[in-house]
Amino acid sequence: MESIINIFRTSLTVFGQQPLMWKLLATVGAIWTGNILANIGTFTWLHFLRRSSLARYKSKSSWALITGSSDGIGKAFAHELCHRGFNVVLHGRNEKKLENVRAEILNEHPAQEVRILLLDVAESAGDHARLDEAVDQLEDIDLKVLINNVGGVAKRLWIPLQDYSDDDARLFLDMNCRFQTELTRRLLPRFINGPSLIMNIGSFVSELPAPYISVFGGAKAFGKAWSRSLHFEMLAEGHDVEVLQVQVGMVSTPNEPRPESLFVPNALRMAQSSLDKVGCGRSVVFGYWPHQLHCSLLIDLPGLLRDRLLMRIVKGLKEQEERDLKS
Ligand SMILES: NC(=O)c1ccc[n+]([C@@H]2O[C@H](COP(=O)([O-])OP(=O)(O)OC[C@H]3O[C@@H](n4cnc5c(N)ncnc54)[C@H](OP(=O)(O)O)[C@@H]3O)[C@@H](O)[C@H]2O)c1
Repeated sequence: MESIINIFRTSLTVFGQQPLMWKLLATVGAIWTGNILANIGTFTWLHFLRRSSLARYKSKSSWALITGSSDGIGKAFAHELCHRGFNVVLHGRNEKKLENVRAEILNEHPAQEVRILLLDVAESAGDHARLDEAVDQLEDIDLKVLINNVGGVAKRLWIPLQDYSDDDARLFLDMNCRFQTELTRRLLPRFINGPSLIMNIGSFVSELPAPYISVFGGAKAFGKAWSRSLHFEMLAEGHDVEVLQVQVGMVSTPNEPRPESLFVPNALRMAQSSLDKVGCGRSVVFGYWPHQLHCSLLIDLPGLLRDRLLMRIVKGLKEQEERDLKS
């Protein structure tokens, strides 16, 4: 102990004898290193050490509603939530697909209950009577979890603004902003009665503005700001409602069958690691650690270099999409 104190004292003396310039540089270096170490510590804690507190929202008969759960990440959330002891409401627009998912889940988890909520976002966003009617169907269940997952894009992702039709633009905004706002607003009075969770699924694109995704990126940025604001509103009002925005990078799904890799997980992996973030105390989190790494590497590049790199990446992806659509 004595020797550590001596080393510390000597370092301070040596530091005190340095010219002012060196002192300033050393201080900046120490703050910078401290910041990096703190970020690495938080990253490790968040993704590898802490345990999910999803069980807080579970009782014998708790239900979770997952929007857009006939396929992709939403379907994976439904499977995983049943696996973790919740009954689930599957939402979607295709009754046959939803019935198949229901049968699949009940086959794996016969002890759980699975319901279907049929509601086409394209037709129901803004249709107040229809939304009220849908929410009324859930009156008799103990709804504790809402996953606002429905969203995404049309056949093309990279679209110049002038190429959008009015209908395309409206659908993007309905799917990624309006529906979740209208649905959550209706369900909120039920959530504020007890511990409940609202998880909103966002995207990488709201972190890194890029060409040809002005509508989609803008819609996802709305989702992120909306979710954060609601998170703080629940705190300000003293309601025990956790509102968590989960940012997602590339995922391999049946609609986007990309090759799986460390940076491109399958939908189940994405859903599992997102649910593991419940209770982390943040308003926004990356659900899957390689997505956070990938995004941070790009964000932390010097501005000019990052923007040039992003333009090149997007150009390649847009050309690839055009080739895929032609073939
Ligand atoms: N996949 C990715 O790489 C990725 C990346 C970043 C963020 N995300 C986000 O993750 C979420 C899920 O994406 P995903 O890739 O899993 O999507 P997906 O595979 O395309 O599935 C979307 C789900 O939404 C349903 N849906 C689509 N249009 C609908 C409508 N008009 N009315 C009602 N339901 C409708 C689909 O039903 P049908 O089965 O009838 O089509 C399906 O159940 C989205 O918010 C997306 O933005 C995904």
